[in-house]
Amino acid sequence: MNFGERNMLRGFRPLAAAWLGGAALLLLNMGATAVDAKREPFGALADGRQVEAVVLSNNAGIRVKIMTLGAAIQALSIPDRSGHAGDVVLGFDSPQEYLQNPSYFGATVGRFANRIAKGHFTLDGKTYTLATNDHGNHLHGGLKGFDKVLWSIDSVKSGSPATAVFSYTSPDGEEGYPGTLRVTASYSLNDAAVLRVEFRATTDKSTIVNISNHSYFNLSAETGASVLSHLLQVNAAKYTPVDVGLIPTGELRAVEGTPFDFRKPTAIGLRVRDGHDQQIRYGRGYDHNFALDGTLGESRLAARVADPSSGRIMEIFTKAPGLQFYSGNFLDATIAGKGGRVYREGDALVLEPQLFPDAPNQKTFPSARLDPGNTYVNTMEYRFSTDKPARPAGVK
Ligand code: BGC
Repeated sequence: MNFGERNMLRGFRPLAAAWLGGAALLLLNMGATAVDAKREPFGALADGRQVEAVVLSNNAGIRVKIMTLGAAIQALSIPDRSGHAGDVVLGFDSPQEYLQNPSYFGATVGRFANRIAKGHFTLDGKTYTLATNDHGNHLHGGLKGFDKVLWSIDSVKSGSPATAVFSYTSPDGEEGYPGTLRVTASYSLNDAAVLRVEFRATTDKSTIVNISNHSYFNLSAETGASVLSHLLQVNAAKYTPVDVGLIPTGELRAVEGTPFDFRKPTAIGLRVRDGHDQQIRYGRGYDHNFALDGTLGESRLAARVADPSSGRIMEIFTKAPGLQFYSGNFLDATIAGKGGRVYREGDALVLEPQLFPDAPNQKTFPSARLDPGNTYVNTMEYRFSTDKPARPAGVK
């Protein structure tokens, strides 16, 4: 059941509504549904710069907060199967902590999400050298990627969907990339529990682009439960194996018969420690890009995550060719996030719709090239629902 359907039940079937959420909620939700968008302050950075946030919330109990630092999702509250909302993403309570402990929580990652080997790539015969920030490789845009800059808020609009558009202009040469890149990150939420995130970019010189969202999800929401019991489905028959530095070898390997076969819903924890597979050892678990099935350029279901304990379900739709699945292997209990909670390995999973890692150096991978006059677009839709609602005692 999605939350939109649940809302209709609330509006038109009083008994069912009472079963789902109680009479008070019924009264609240009798009118036309609406989605609200509000701007609010989100604290200051150590250098005094103010960070703002936009909160989108709907009558189905979903609330998402996006801040101008990194155009990042700072909080995402989703009801469980009993209607109790909980925050399903990792992050911090104040903006400065995001700069002190860069883990890309909820962030917009770019210009190039994921890794570029040794920070080098060649375009039209010219070799470019990017900032290296990950064992000699370039990761998520370099030392000061899109996650660490302040974005502007271009527009905020209530209605269904409610939208917030953020923008950032990356100067020519930033982190070594050619071209002035104008980027927008749009977030929209509707009544049917769909959160849509869309990145667009244009350039004044030929360049490379790969932008994604880096939210760390735990659908059990602050209960302390790990995501290893979440059931994951990834619609991909192949993935891109990596070397020890997590750079793809160029091969597209069949998932069949390996711990990477998620074509049927499978608990993440079942094979995350399967050291017989060298790829699991290299990734310290899952840290791999899946080559999504289906037609490139058509929006299709890339992944579905279900948490059996809370009943929350998240589906991700995208047109992107790849999906990076990272099982939070580098969360090592050295940082405390929202509410002082320490984050440990397996506390969250990241699913990033994107191009393949190191695409600029791999001729057989879909191209990351963007030329003047063209627009780069990467859209991802997160659809939230629950399995069947819990019945109150005595109701059969
Ligand atoms: C990468 C990981 C990296 C993490 C950083 C993920 O997208 O795949 O290797 O450690 O981002 O937060």
